[in-house]
Amino acid sequence: MYAEIISGKDLAQKLRTNMKLEVSELAKKGLTPHLTVVLVGEDPASKSYVKGKKKASAEVGISSEVIELPKETTEDELVQVVNTLNEDQKVHGILVQLPLPDHIDEQVIIETINPRKDVDGFHPVNIGRMMIGEDTFLPCTPYGIITMLKSTNIELEGKHAVIIGRSNIVGKPVGQLLLNEHVTVTHCHSRTVNLKSYTKMADILIVAVGKPHVIHADAVKEDAIVIDVGVNRLEDGSLTGDVDFEDVGKKAAYITPVPKGVGPMTITMLLKNTIKAAKGLE
Ligand code: GUN
Repeated sequence: MYAEIISGKDLAQKLRTNMKLEVSELAKKGLTPHLTVVLVGEDPASKSYVKGKKKASAEVGISSEVIELPKETTEDELVQVVNTLNEDQKVHGILVQLPLPDHIDEQVIIETINPRKDVDGFHPVNIGRMMIGEDTFLPCTPYGIITMLKSTNIELEGKHAVIIGRSNIVGKPVGQLLLNEHVTVTHCHSRTVNLKSYTKMADILIVAVGKPHVIHADAVKEDAIVIDVGVNRLEDGSLTGDVDFEDVGKKAAYITPVPKGVGPMTITMLLKNTIKAAKGLE
């Protein structure tokens, strides 16, 4: 291994320690941040993510509650639940776990959440605010990635980032956040012709494909910073990333592991957004 490992786990721990202090200060003033998570249906991966969010909230002193609804819940019923939470003064952050069952339009639900309680940063108002560089709730995974990059103290300005993946949750917003940091950004995706010709030019390579080990050392520039957003469960139950960690680690300057990389940072940024929601946007 040549690359330095950027440990999301260690950075997350450090940030959470600071948040715990901040939350205890807020509590002294009578303000305890409260997050409500809505889970529709029985998807095991979603259940496990929600459990992780609840546990992490408790660790820093954020109060949280999970509303579990049956998979038959209608779109109208879910809109009603979100509207009730929008009006509840005690609820600072609302997170509706995705994916939702097929008969519910996710975008309708996302747009029902009060943007000031949208700790996922998925509401079009918050995406727009992010685009123009205003203070807002940033989507948690991209926010976590930027925080990890900044933790290396490497100058980002003028670097070339190549992002593989163009989802609304990761690929598109992480490109925008890098652009806000004066990085030159190239977006690649499933229809990109000759992907390797782009990835080999990347000072910063962000891989959010969702398939195990699609990136090997031959696709990476010497001394690149490689961020692996993939969370793939193998047949033996273990987790692995989109990047061949052993191989790429011999060539890159920095690399994030899976697990203990981007994952713990995503939840940490959700906690940060929840504290921000409790304090109120500027
Ligand atoms: N499902 C997978 N990731 C996420 C996330 O960041 N937020 C929500 N709401 N659902 C998800």
